[in-house]
Amino acid sequence: MTFKVKDHYFKKAKQENYLARSIYKLKEIDDKFNVLSKGDNVLDLGYFPGSWVQYTCEKVGEKGQVVGIDIKPVNKKLTNIKNVVLLESDYLEFSDWKSLTPDGKFDVVLSDMAPNTTGIKDVDQARSLGLIEKIIYELPVFLKDEGSLVFKIFDSNDAQMEIRNLRKIFKQVKIFRPDSTRSVSKEIFVICKEYNA
Ligand SMILES: C[S@@+](CC[C@H](N)C(=O)[O-])C[C@H]1O[C@@H](n2cnc3c(N)ncnc32)[C@H](O)[C@@H]1O
Repeated sequence: MTFKVKDHYFKKAKQENYLARSIYKLKEIDDKFNVLSKGDNVLDLGYFPGSWVQYTCEKVGEKGQVVGIDIKPVNKKLTNIKNVVLLESDYLEFSDWKSLTPDGKFDVVLSDMAPNTTGIKDVDQARSLGLIEKIIYELPVFLKDEGSLVFKIFDSNDAQMEIRNLRKIFKQVKIFRPDSTRSVSKEIFVICKEYNA
């Protein structure tokens, strides 16, 4: 698949010194749904290269903190930011939440994780769902009561069923496709607020 790789958002991100065009997806989500606040403790799953970290650190301010986890080696371009902790780890293997915050819990959990795609629709959808299922299973461990969860998922019938189930544990659940998402992409974002732990 050849994209117009250097599209409008790619160029805009370069000009504004953001590490990826994905920044504009989170910005659109945050402008519309008010997910991030000053002082929040945020977990960013699949943070690399780190445009969401750049945006989130600014939003939560010095009293907040952002923890980023990615399989890829830590991005040194981000290590000068004060309120950020970055880990090289596979989320599917990670369990030591208590080492990251005093109570092991976050106000906001973000996931822009994307599995390695095969081009086989069913396989890619199932892998994407697998990442999200682990997050949902672990919410009681790492999301504070009344906290928010924002995640990306490849749309499918199974994904929609999972999203319906989320309505039982969050007061608000919205599906959103940012303008900055590439038109060929099957991804959607799910914004869940007011977790009932
Ligand atoms: C689309 S990129 C994230 C871009 C990021 N939000 C930004 O703004 O720069 C998706 C990331 O998810 C990571 N990822 C995929 N599966 C993962 C897993 N099991 N554990 C941790 N990271 C994972 C990939 O390594 C990749 O860096």
